[in-house]
Amino acid sequence: MALTGQQPVAFAAPAPRGGCPFDPPPAYGRVREEQPVARVSLWDGSSCWLLTRHQDVRSVLRDTRFSAEASRPGFPFLSAGRKALTTSNASFIRMDDPEHAQLRRMLTGDFMVKRIEALRPRVQQLTDELLDRMTEGRQEADLVADFALPLPSVVICLLLGVPYADHAFFQDRSRTMLNSVSTPEQIEEAQDDLLRYLAGLAESKAAAPDDGILSRLVARGELTVAQIAAMGRLLLVAGHETTANMTALSALALLRDPDQLARLRDAALAGDTAAVQGAVEELLRYLSIVQGGVARVATEDVTVGDVRIRAGEGVLLMLNAANRDEEAFPGGDSLDVSRDARRHVAFGFGVHQCLGQPLARLELQVALAALLRRLPGLRLAVPFEEIGFRTEMLVYGVHALPVTW
Ligand code: HEM
Repeated sequence: MALTGQQPVAFAAPAPRGGCPFDPPPAYGRVREEQPVARVSLWDGSSCWLLTRHQDVRSVLRDTRFSAEASRPGFPFLSAGRKALTTSNASFIRMDDPEHAQLRRMLTGDFMVKRIEALRPRVQQLTDELLDRMTEGRQEADLVADFALPLPSVVICLLLGVPYADHAFFQDRSRTMLNSVSTPEQIEEAQDDLLRYLAGLAESKAAAPDDGILSRLVARGELTVAQIAAMGRLLLVAGHETTANMTALSALALLRDPDQLARLRDAALAGDTAAVQGAVEELLRYLSIVQGGVARVATEDVTVGDVRIRAGEGVLLMLNAANRDEEAFPGGDSLDVSRDARRHVAFGFGVHQCLGQPLARLELQVALAALLRRLPGLRLAVPFEEIGFRTEMLVYGVHALPVTW
């Protein structure tokens, strides 16, 4: 991506990665150095602003003059499929306050740190069972299919009251929805499948309530079945794809960096919870898997840095570039599990900051610590060059991770 003053420059979505698959596309780093608020053109000929500095990303995300409503003119989309995904059947991630706050508030109790922390023994037990099954009588496994994906999938199913037996169905539809090369028709079909499925589940909970979130939302009597299904879809998709990819990509990044791996393993063996928590924050920062960034549109004229963004103009906030900003994280292109990375924006920032972050943190802490503790000989079962990275997916990661131990 070459820069030419304030002329919009072509922006490939997602931009091509460089030599190191853990680094954000090098083009973002160049933008940040040369023109931190850059005008870029998108696939459909529209243009928007690309923001890559940590300070700018945080200031826009907490600024109520920027809207998350995808139906507003000027809202930027990374692909035709993404447009289909975010404009139909919106859930509260694509709403502004007060509607957003009203819906999000119905779930804040479920994702409070204290409530999620109470799940730790259960998550630990599930983790141990998965590792038992993965290693029993075997010397090789796919860390994605056998561990990283099932763990958060089982947990979000338990929380929502969705039968895990249906995992092949909902994982398949999620993959289609989050694939930037899916056509709008494929995305709409996948969304509709999930919405129909969740609406059916919500209706069955009315007759036979349980203690899951879906059942509780039905019992409140304030939402339509369609609203509950939209909320359930957001939680189900966000609740498994993200953590699954973070777990597998973290394992790979650690396997490529034996010093950092040894430090985290020592912390896990010593039961040093604070060090494990810190390492997970650093991995979230370093890997920043929401690779398409987050989108907003200005509702008033706003100055960001030295650029005037006009009402109706879109902005793309590149979380992965912001998390490598030298001003916020000196030496940030290196993984350093002892770094204080808590100001990272991997979970976003402001009113839409990830609702599920306490759950994601818990799952990552338990999963990575158990993996390193129990499998001291963990290593790749194929050459690194054969690993397939999820460059086409909105959530970055690896398609499969063959390992041995
Ligand atoms: C490593 C794991 C995760 C990452 C990196 C991540 C990242 C993000 C980001 C960047 C946003 C902000 C989007 C925006 O501002 O437009 C977000 C929002 C959200 N996330 Fe996560 N997420 C993760 C795990 C989870 C989990 C486990 C759940 C479980 C339910 C979840 C549920 C949500 C929800 C409901 C929102 C919308 C919040 C709102 O609009 O108020 N996420 N996430």
